Amino acid sequence: MTVSKDLFKQTVGSFPTGVTVTTAYAADGQVVGMTASAFSSVSLDPLLVLMCPAKDAECYSALTEADYFSIHLLAGDQGPLAWQFAKSDVDKTQGLSLDKGPNGSPKIQGCLAYLECRHHALYDGGDHGILVGEVRHIELPETDREPLVYCKSTLGPLPRIDAQ
Ligand SMILES: Cc1cc2nc3c(=O)[nH]c(=O)nc-3n(C[C@H](O)[C@H](O)[C@H](O)COP(=O)(O)O)c2cc1C
Repeated sequence: MTVSKDLFKQTVGSFPTGVTVTTAYAADGQVVGMTASAFSSVSLDPLLVLMCPAKDAECYSALTEADYFSIHLLAGDQGPLAWQFAKSDVDKTQGLSLDKGPNGSPKIQGCLAYLECRHHALYDGGDHGILVGEVRHIELPETDREPLVYCKSTLGPLPRIDAQ
């Protein structure tokens, strides 16, 4: 029996994930990036993470060809930033405080956590790529901010669950 794309999307969309924004510099010096829930840690030795950009995304070539890219983990109050980086054909960096990681990739200030990655591998994942980065730098500010969570097309802060 064939599974419909709608059922597939509905099903995987019922699985709550965190939310990231991946950024890099394009060859012309422009900052490119996208919001992605498809993010995972992969390996401890070496330190590897992955994110999966759609092959038809405008920023696909720039992200997958960059030597270094940045992955920002978003906090519960950063829903607007997630939507900003999920829109095409707009200046995604408008209104943002941008900085650079130690290896020169574009860093958005004020996120829950920041990982600067060196391109490690790019695998085929159907209509997406599987971009694996070696983590070369991390910033994890000590805050009690909740992470941003995505589920069923909705974004919101992770609800606090008090221990019994
Ligand atoms: C919460 C959320 C999660 C997303 N996750 C992904 C993802 O994992 N991979 C992906 O390719 N697009 C994902 N998208 C869609 C992209 O962010 C969006 O299509 C983006 O505009 C693509 O970049 P482009 O403007 O360069 O085409 C997500 C969007 C949202 C709002």
